[in-house]
Order: sequence, then C-alpha cells, then structure tokens
Amino acid sequence: MTNIQFPDTLKWGAATASYQIEGAADEGGRSPSIWDVFSHTPGKVKNGDTGDHACNSYHLYKEDVQLLRELGIDQYRFSISWSRVIPDGTGQLNKEGITYYRNLIQELIDNGIEPMITLYHWDLPQALQEAGGWEVREIVEAFQSYAETMFQEFGNKVKKWLTINEPWCASFLSNYLGIHAPGKTNLQTAVDVSHHLLLAHGKAVQSFRKIIPDGEIGYAPNVGWLEPYSPNQADVDACRRSMMWQKEWFMDPVFKGTYPETLVQLFAEHNAKLNVEEGDLAIISEPVDFMGINYYTGSLGRFKKGEGLFQVEEIPLDERRTDIDWPIYADGFYKVLTDIHQTYGDVPIYITENGACYNHGVEDGRVHDKDRIEYLKQHLTALHRALEAGVPIAGYIVWSLLDNFEWAEGYEKRFGIIHVNYATFERTKKDSYYWYKETVKNQGFHV
Ligand code: BGC
Repeated sequence: MTNIQFPDTLKWGAATASYQIEGAADEGGRSPSIWDVFSHTPGKVKNGDTGDHACNSYHLYKEDVQLLRELGIDQYRFSISWSRVIPDGTGQLNKEGITYYRNLIQELIDNGIEPMITLYHWDLPQALQEAGGWEVREIVEAFQSYAETMFQEFGNKVKKWLTINEPWCASFLSNYLGIHAPGKTNLQTAVDVSHHLLLAHGKAVQSFRKIIPDGEIGYAPNVGWLEPYSPNQADVDACRRSMMWQKEWFMDPVFKGTYPETLVQLFAEHNAKLNVEEGDLAIISEPVDFMGINYYTGSLGRFKKGEGLFQVEEIPLDERRTDIDWPIYADGFYKVLTDIHQTYGDVPIYITENGACYNHGVEDGRVHDKDRIEYLKQHLTALHRALEAGVPIAGYIVWSLLDNFEWAEGYEKRFGIIHVNYATFERTKKDSYYWYKETVKNQGFHV
C-alpha cells in the first residue's frame, strides 16, 4: 500500500453554510433571506424543500461541535446568516442572532477548533433584495457595514474570515442561469451583480485591516477544469473562454486589478456592459491574505458553434459521476491548483470546499459510503501532487460536515460525511467520517 503523507503544516477542516444547516428560519428574531422566498416559491427547489428546519443546527450546534471535535480537525468553516444578525439588512442588530454565533464560536474554541467565518454564503436579507439586492451599487455599502459589525462583534475571537462564497454562483448562476435565488435570467444583471460582489469584497477587506489587524481574510471562488478535447485551436480557445468565466473574471480583478478584456468584449457582444467606476479596481485589488478554492468537478470541453455563451460542449472523461450527476475529475483539481499558482503567484490557498454527493442511507446504524472515500482519496492525492509541485496550500476543508439543504436540489442530494435524518435530526457518522478522522490523525492515508 502506498502512503500519501502531508506536511505537518497542512490544516484540516469541515464546512457548512447557514441556510443549509441552521433551520430555525423564523426563530430568534431572524427575518427571511432571498433563499426563504425562493425555496417557498413553487417549482424552484426539488420536492418543494425549504431550509425552514434544515439540520436544526441552530438548536443542535453543541452536538455538531462534538462531532467536529471527535473528528480531530483544526478548523470549522461556517457562515453567518445576515438576516439573523441584522434582520433588515442594515441598521438594528438582533441580539439573539449575535448570541447564537457568539455561543457557537465559544463552543468551538473551548473544543480546540478554530472558527473560520464566511460572511456571505448566498442568503441575502430579503429586505435588501427588495431594495434592488446585488444589482444596485448601494448594496456595497450595506455589505461593508454588515461586515464591519461582524468584525467588531467577533473579531476578538475569530481571526480567519472569508468575504464571499462562490461569487460566480451568486452572480451568474443566480441572475443569468436563473437556477439559484433570486432566479433571474438577465446577463446584464449578472454582470452588475458580479462587479458589486467584488467591490463589496474589496471594501470589506479594507475595513478588516483596521478592525482585525492580526487576522487573515480571503474569499472563496469556485473553479472547475475544462480540458481541451483536442489540441485544435478551436477547442483550446473554447475551454479557455469558458474557464475564464469562473477563474479570471473573479480573480484578475482581485489579484491584478483588471477584468479580462476577452470576456468584457464577449459580454458586450451580448449587450451586457461592465460598469466600473473610477477607483473600483483599486478597492477590489486590496491585497488578501489567502485565496479559498472550491473544487468539485471537471470535464473535457469541445468547441460547438452556438452552444451557450462560450460555444463549448462538455464531455465527461468517463462514465463515473457522483449522485448529483457531476463528472469526477480529480486530475482537474491538480490542474486548477497548479494553473492558479502559475497565474497568480504565491498566494496561500485554502481548499475551502471539496467533496462529493452520494445519497447512501443508514443500514444498521452505519453508512457505507465507499464512493465518497474513493472520491476524497483521489482528490487528496491530486492535492498532494499540487503541494509537491510547489503550490502553497495551507489547508483542506471538506464539504460538508453534514448532509444539508442542497440549494435547488433540496434534501435529496447528500454531501455530508455525517448523515442527517431530516425527520428526527439524528446524525449518523458515515464511513467517510471515520476515514477522514484517521487521515487527519495520521496526516495522510494509504491508497
Ligand atoms: C456551495 C455549497 C454547496 C456545494 C455543493 C458549493 O457550490 O458553496 O453551498 O452545497 O457547492 O453543491
């Protein structure tokens, strides 16, 4: 058996997000977010599922922290529900909401786990959506003020922060492809939203430096890999354009202070204009301490005239897919990491999400999710190769600690290393939980 051994410095974690696990949607002074409204709109989420109760982590957080402790990990990445702490989006603070997160943070620290907070994992207060949401520039100020309040409230205990989770999903998936809240299908809206998200990120980083000077902050873009189907220029260009959508569009402004001109033009050809004001890019490129990367899947990409915005069709490398139908492409993970390192240099990287959807149920008190273990092994091997290639990877955070509300897919799709029974909220550790625990303990595993 071959051993994959990681350096002692590599940190381990597990991640969740507020709307996906908390439940208690109308308890403790929380007001609705865009995801409450979206999930309660018939036809938007599979089986009409909503996050009303989710994993009930709002009430069961102590149990969840014990599960984290037993896992032996270093860090827990979770997000704050903006409408739980500031129900109107701006102004009045909700003390109960603050208390909930303060207790969770204390519980983590008492159990030797470092908290890592994501400020925005997609659940915008509905009150702000009604004022135009991410589409209007005023949102940037609202986000900055929310961020400042959170830094002030929790900054003495929490030193690792992320601004925005997956800005591509919060802009294009939600406002151009219409799959996530608020479910719009307008390219101009999506382009505006993407710029405001980046600007909000930059403003928050600026505030962070003043309020938590001894902390570290980053953000968490999602990237997939498209390998050209052939060396033909048409295939190579199609893949490059398509990958730019997730990578360069959301990373060039932060790390280079520019938007990729190819995409600016391509959007313009589709009547979507990038509206940048003087000074915006200087704000967006305020240096971060680390970059978060969320990686799940990849494919072959082949030029196809008229196919989508980028004229590319995706062809899976082989038959194997996870239960959410995403092709498995562990080598793509290695390619993403080395490519990002090559493009943006030595910025420390946290893998803020990586994991697999498999819907195994409980059998005699156990969940035999061999497929998930296989997926994790392959992707951690890719990560190890990237480390060997000199990519400065600081940590790996598995998605997800718990099965949870998988957005438009509802509860049917399970990403957790812990199974959740949504009728009783009972948690059952899956085989992958035990495997991950051993991996963390040994700082490696056998292939
Ligand atoms: C998101 C998570 C989501 C996961 C699996 C990411 O897009 O950040 O919230 O559950 O991937 O789809």
